[in-house]
Amino acid sequence: MQISSFEIFDMLARAQLTGQAIYIAAKLRIADYLKDGAKRVEELAVRTETHSDSLYRLLRMLASIGIFAEIKEEDDEQEQANHRIRRFKKSIDDLLYSIQTGENSFKHANGMEMYEYFEQKQKEAQIFNGAMASLTSSHASLILSMYNFSQFNTIIDIGGGQGTFLSSILKNNPNLHGILFDLPHAIESARKLYVKELANVKDNNVNEIFSRCKLIEGDFFKSIPSVGADGYIIKNVILNWDDESAAIILKNCLQAMKGTISSSSSNENKVNRRKTSPKLLIIDTTMPEGNEPFIGKFTDILMLALTHKGRIRTEAEFRRILNSCGFETTDIIRSHDSTDFLSIIEAVPSSN
Ligand SMILES: C[S@@+](CC[C@H](N)C(=O)[O-])C[C@H]1O[C@@H](n2cnc3c(N)ncnc32)[C@H](O)[C@@H]1O
Repeated sequence: MQISSFEIFDMLARAQLTGQAIYIAAKLRIADYLKDGAKRVEELAVRTETHSDSLYRLLRMLASIGIFAEIKEEDDEQEQANHRIRRFKKSIDDLLYSIQTGENSFKHANGMEMYEYFEQKQKEAQIFNGAMASLTSSHASLILSMYNFSQFNTIIDIGGGQGTFLSSILKNNPNLHGILFDLPHAIESARKLYVKELANVKDNNVNEIFSRCKLIEGDFFKSIPSVGADGYIIKNVILNWDDESAAIILKNCLQAMKGTISSSSSNENKVNRRKTSPKLLIIDTTMPEGNEPFIGKFTDILMLALTHKGRIRTEAEFRRILNSCGFETTDIIRSHDSTDFLSIIEAVPSSN
């Protein structure tokens, strides 16, 4: 691969800046001051004897790469005076702990796993769900161009967040029905988003898309609803989990698919619909071999620090795990450029 001298300069500048910024945050012991919760940047500046606005700019840069997070508090008194409240939450301040133990520093710092935390902290959950939704909208049309979703009758988006991806599939495929399945906090966000969109857009389209969509709350470690879907999408979910947890999700998915197969064969004569055998689509970043610069190598470290031993997997790792859970990989469609190694891994229940 050919890298221009500008790209090398850019990479070096970023690496140097990031290293410096992390070093400064560590030297100022910012993470220690955030141990007990979010603080205003003004307060942090007093404690660290620094220039408030410059400290804010440094923390904003670190927040953009996942170290600390800025929280906006709508109802804070100062907000009334129209001041932006700059608060930072301890986030990946203890990567060293993860590197030393292989355990996630999020749990170490907060006493619970990230998704348990979101179930309890509505504001933080909203920030996370919103961030996932904007990430998803940025590559939804790319994914739609990579795969023919119109072959399905009903798709279920497992861990589908606020439903951003599902609604773009439904928008592009007017005959499709969809099911959004996620934890209660995400389903609640999806409902709120729908109500907000409906109010803002006043567009019959929103209503029409929503009328083809069902929202189901649940836990994919307990079960995945068997509701007659023939397309099972798991997008940007497996990377949050270790192999054991990923296997539970995939086996629950297989159970749901088997339920669909047996109910559709018993209804075969009654229902006059296009018959498709169920397919699983794992849509995820895949790790390329070699030393190429790739954003996923940073995401991988984020997964290590934030999630339950999650990781960015290679295609071979996905095939292996699918195989061990009773699936056969039937196709892998890739979009590989310097910023994205996005793969759609298509699998079906194995015949043996
Ligand atoms: C990284 S987000 C991906 C969201 C969405 N698929 C996307 O691509 O934008 C992972 C999703 O998994 C959901 N999730 C985590 N644990 C879950 C569980 N036990 N059962 C169902 N969903 C879960 C989260 O709420 C979150 O929406």
